Order: sequence, then structure tokens, then C-alpha cells
Amino acid sequence: MNEIEEQKFYSLKIKEMNQNKTLKYFILTMGCQLNENDSEKLCGILEQMGYQKTDIQSQADLVVLNTCCVRENAEDKLFGKLGELKRQKEERGIMIAIGGCMMQEKHITAKIKESYPFVDILFGTHTLYKFPENLYRALKEKKKLEDIIDIEGKIYEGLPIKRNSNIKASVTIMNGCNNFCSYCIVPYVRGRERSRKPKDIIEEVKELAKQGYQEITLLGQNVNSYLRVEQEKAIEFEPYQGVHSFATLLKAINKIEGIKRIRFLSPHPKDFTNDVIEAIATCEKVCKLVHLPLQSGNSKVLKEMNRKYTKKQYLELVEKMRQTIPNLTLSTDIIVGFPGETEEEFEDTLDVVRKVKFEQVYMFLYSRRVGTPADKMENQILEEQKHIRFNKLKDLVESQIEENNQKYVGTMQKVLVEGESKNNKDLLTGRTDSNKVVIFEGNQDLIGQVIELKIVSEHMWYLKGEK
Ligand code: 5AD
Ligand code: SF4
Repeated sequence: MNEIEEQKFYSLKIKEMNQNKTLKYFILTMGCQLNENDSEKLCGILEQMGYQKTDIQSQADLVVLNTCCVRENAEDKLFGKLGELKRQKEERGIMIAIGGCMMQEKHITAKIKESYPFVDILFGTHTLYKFPENLYRALKEKKKLEDIIDIEGKIYEGLPIKRNSNIKASVTIMNGCNNFCSYCIVPYVRGRERSRKPKDIIEEVKELAKQGYQEITLLGQNVNSYLRVEQEKAIEFEPYQGVHSFATLLKAINKIEGIKRIRFLSPHPKDFTNDVIEAIATCEKVCKLVHLPLQSGNSKVLKEMNRKYTKKQYLELVEKMRQTIPNLTLSTDIIVGFPGETEEEFEDTLDVVRKVKFEQVYMFLYSRRVGTPADKMENQILEEQKHIRFNKLKDLVESQIEENNQKYVGTMQKVLVEGESKNNKDLLTGRTDSNKVVIFEGNQDLIGQVIELKIVSEHMWYLKGEK
């Protein structure tokens, strides 16, 4: 029996135990799309055990929190939630399980055990697959349980999964990160880079195509270094349909019939090698919106962040990609207030933003993370200063988005129709290749199709379209 079959055995034991009960679970996911994808697997596992999903926390018998630790605000959110759950535990005896990245941090698990001892299960990023066994033991032995390992876990194939959408699907292709950007906690909580086998990925995408999925997002903490470590260290892997790198993976997925769009998150600028740029340009299904995390526009700050590129190299890369990839649009991540960042250095970030004119900018206040080199730097920036810079950047970004949105008005755009608009059930919502939301009037049977719409007006966060 392999590990996954063994876990299925525990799932079925729990199902048997709960036979005459209708038990519900509530799951809260914090953080990135990789965590969302892990939660889809947890949902698959829980439904295999017979639990039913509820979106109302107060109706759940089992509450699962899938945590993130990239920035501090996620911690505040977790501890706030635990206060709420304490009451529900006392009133209704619910089970509480906490997993995800934050559980890989010893100071956090220590705090939970001390201040929130009522939590039943703590599990880490490498032990998600063992959730059935852990829940079984917690239920049976009525003991608090901790299952967290430091070492990088194996990649487990064949976990059940319950996806959030039947149009768009995420496929994790690699785990971990070897880059050690000095501000970032990810390499410490997700471990070293390891890639899934080409065959497992291709087969998963083929299956998704068969089920009618239209859009695939390939995920990894450093997605465009897929199979890089294996290549560099000459670790043997089985090539499949010519896949031996990120570029060849894009090409292989591009050939899968039924899939209409391919996206990928989150890449590193240093890994946009010529073959990757060429693959994006030539694969018609690969969306031409590329995420290119800048973090800072100043070369000195970038060096201290350990980003491995300068302002000039970043701008040259943008230029090269613009020349090679027709209709390229770019999005980015920026951190404001990294230790030691001067006003002048911050101006370089604004300068790059002005020059590149991103489609979308995800802005973050620098957040100190225990255990990272940047946390030990002495020249931390005052919160107030960070906020002033953040607002400056936000004003610039918003004025650029407004300007950019106007360019869409009057154009025809291919839109993947995703469903009813959240705010108005009479309207449909979809996204352009560049990931802009488009709202329009249309028939329900358009859901799941890629259609051409004329953009008739623009609003800050969405466009209006017409058939
Ligand atoms: N503080 C602020 N933002 C951070 N990010 C990662 N670590 C930190 C931190 N300590 C941001 C980066 C990254 C995104 C996912 O989160 O911009 O690209
Ligand atoms: Fe963090 Fe840098 Fe790795 Fe991204 S590339 S996960 S920012 S260490």
C-alpha cells in the first residue's frame, strides 16, 4: 500500500465512524494561489471522509485554517480567528485544525500551544497528505496532535481534489524556493525547490481538459525555474513528450486539446531565459500577461534583497520581452520600505513604474519576518514613512491604471466568461487575456466560453463590454 492509499484507508475509517451523522467542514484559506490549491486538496480529502462543505463557520463541526506567513497581517488574522473559535469549541465541541506555512514557524506553534491549547491538530506544509491519519487519531485518541516536519517533503501524487471552479484550474508544478530573497520567509517554510514529473503534470492537464476546464494556471513559488535544480544537479527525471524545462512544459501544455488559456505564477525575472520568452511568444494559448515581480526599482536595494538583477537589467528584460512577445502586458509585485531604503532609492521604484506602465501592481509594505536576513538589518524604516511611500506609489499606479483602461475602450477583446457578476446577477463576468475583469449582458450559456466583446466603457477595477 503506498502512502496515499494508506491515507485513503484512514479517510474511509472516518467515514465509517461518522456514518449516521451529517458533518460539515469550514475552511479558511489565507495567502497565495498555492495555498488555495492546497486547500482544494484538503477539501477533496475531507469530502472523501464524508464531510460536507459549509461557508458558514458557525455551522461547521470541523474548522480548518490554511495559513500564510508571507506578511504579518496574516498572523493577526489567525489569532483573531482563534479567539472566535475558542467560544465555538466551548459551546459546540468543534474540531479545529490549523495547517499551512505559518505552522512551519516554531515561534507561532509555540504561541498556539501556550495561548490557544484547545486547537486539535497542527499540521505543516509537508504533511498535508497525512490529514486523514491525523484527524483519525485526534478523533479516536481525543488528544491534541502536532505533525510538522522541517525537512522538505516528497511530492505526493494522486491526492483527492475538489476544485473551486469548473472553468479555471490551478496545477502546482513545483514546490519550494531556492532564491532566499532576504525579506522572504517562503524558502524556510516551503523548503527547497522540487519539481513534479512532466508526465504527472501533462496527464493532470489532459484530464482537466477532458472535464471541460478552459484555463490552466501553472503554480510554483518560482514557477519558471521548473526542473532547473534537477538539470543543474543532474538529478534524473523522466522526460515526457519532450518536456525537460519550463519552456518545453509550456509548449507541451499548449498542444493539449480543449485548453484555451495557460497562465503561470509566480515567476522570477532571472529565470526568463530566451527559451521561456520564445515559448510565451509562440504558444498561442499562453496569455500575454506576464507577472514580473520587481520588488524594488533601485539596484542597491535589489542587491540587499538578493534579487540577482539591477534596475538596468530589469528594464532591459522588459524591453526584450516587449520586442519578442506581441501584445505583452505586465504585472508586478513591489515592496515599499525595505530596510535602509532612502527616499531617493524609492524614487527609482517610481521611475520603473512610470517607464514600464504595468497592467497591475501588487503593492506591499515591507513586513519583518523572523528568521530572514532583512529582519536582522538595523536600519528598519518607520511604519509612518512606509505608509507615506506606499500612498505615493498607489497614487501613481492608480493614475496609470486609469490611463491604461482608456486604451481598452473601443477595442475588441477575447473574454473567458466565468459566471454571473457578484454584484449584479443579471450581468455576466469574464476576463481578458490581460486578466482585466469585463462585465456584460449575456446569456448564461456563454459561461465557460471564450467570446469576443467590444469594450464600451472603463471603470477603475473593471471594463464594460458588449456583444
Ligand atoms: N514583506 C512584504 N512583502 C513581502 N513579500 C514577500 N515577503 C514580504 C515581506 N517580508 C511580497 C513580495 C512577493 C509577494 C508574494 O509578497 O512582493 O513577490
Ligand atoms: Fe520569496 Fe524570493 Fe522565493 Fe519569491 S523568489 S518565494 S520572493 S524567496
